[in-house]
Amino acid sequence: MSNDNKLTVQVQDSSKKWMELKADRDAVLMRVITGAKMEMEASCDGECACSTCHVYVDTIWLDHLEPPTDEELMMIEYTDKPKANSRLACQIKLKPELNGMRVQIVGK
Ligand code: FES
Repeated sequence: MSNDNKLTVQVQDSSKKWMELKADRDAVLMRVITGAKMEMEASCDGECACSTCHVYVDTIWLDHLEPPTDEELMMIEYTDKPKANSRLACQIKLKPELNGMRVQIVGK
């Protein structure tokens, strides 16, 4: 696969440490984060049923994301610290226009 199919995301863990992760185009953000062994429970394994993959997305990137489904919004409401930029990492597919996106892992 050529580098054209790779993109980069910046991810901050709960200790505020940033990591730059490489991802394939169309990869799911939750899989990229867990694949890099960063701390993310993702206990429902991407079924949009647990909210333990909760992240805050740097607001400048929000418009580039597909809008959340009603199911995702409902799960975000169950998190402890929902914000306007809350998303579930298992529902974010990494498209080229998300290259360089910054997210912060929140967990449930
Ligand atoms: S992994 Fe459970 S909602 Fe994302």
